[in-house]
Amino acid sequence: MLMTIPDLLNTQQLEEIRALLGDASFVDGRLSAGRDAQRVKNNEEMASDNALNVKLNQLVLGRLYQHPTFQAAAMPLKLSSAFFARYGAGQSYGQHVDDAIMGPQGGQYRTDVSMTVFLSGPEDYEGGELTVETEHGEQHVKLPAGHAVFYPSGSLHSVAEVTSGQRLVAVAWAQSMVRDPQQRALLYDMYIVKEALQNVSPDAEATARANRSYINLVRLWSEL
Ligand code: NI
Repeated sequence: MLMTIPDLLNTQQLEEIRALLGDASFVDGRLSAGRDAQRVKNNEEMASDNALNVKLNQLVLGRLYQHPTFQAAAMPLKLSSAFFARYGAGQSYGQHVDDAIMGPQGGQYRTDVSMTVFLSGPEDYEGGELTVETEHGEQHVKLPAGHAVFYPSGSLHSVAEVTSGQRLVAVAWAQSMVRDPQQRALLYDMYIVKEALQNVSPDAEATARANRSYINLVRLWSEL
């Protein structure tokens, strides 16, 4: 299930992030890629030891983590730090799946959910669409600045070549309490149903049953 969160960041936050990134040094993105992904990866990333990292992480991931849609659909247990990537003219990221295990020794996490936060808008670059293979076929994603998208990390995906301008994104991963993407999708549907019932008929027996089913399904399927 591919999901988008519109307006995760507002104009002021975007300006602050872009200004901080303007001062940062970027390195070859292949340095952070697994062996297979290295062959198809061609972009630049902010150096991971950058002093701005903590501030940038708070700005981008704090809001994502707290977002009710992200909480309900991704059910995050662990969240990676954000990687800031830029693609200039001629750069792309060929088709790949993300590495299954990431993070430093002792702080490792399984990647269940992959996220991209768009820091530049469609007007800032040509090309550069994110393409994700989903259960509904290929989906092409090129969102306004400040919007976010997330999808199961096992999905094949790619970034088309940027032909002009610059594509600036933050990417991050989450280990979910629910490993199976199908189960996460079912739980999210159930969440929507029980929230809707709660709003229209808070005292109905069906509402109580939907609520209990949701809670007990989370108990059945989650691992901590
Ligand atoms: Ni990827």
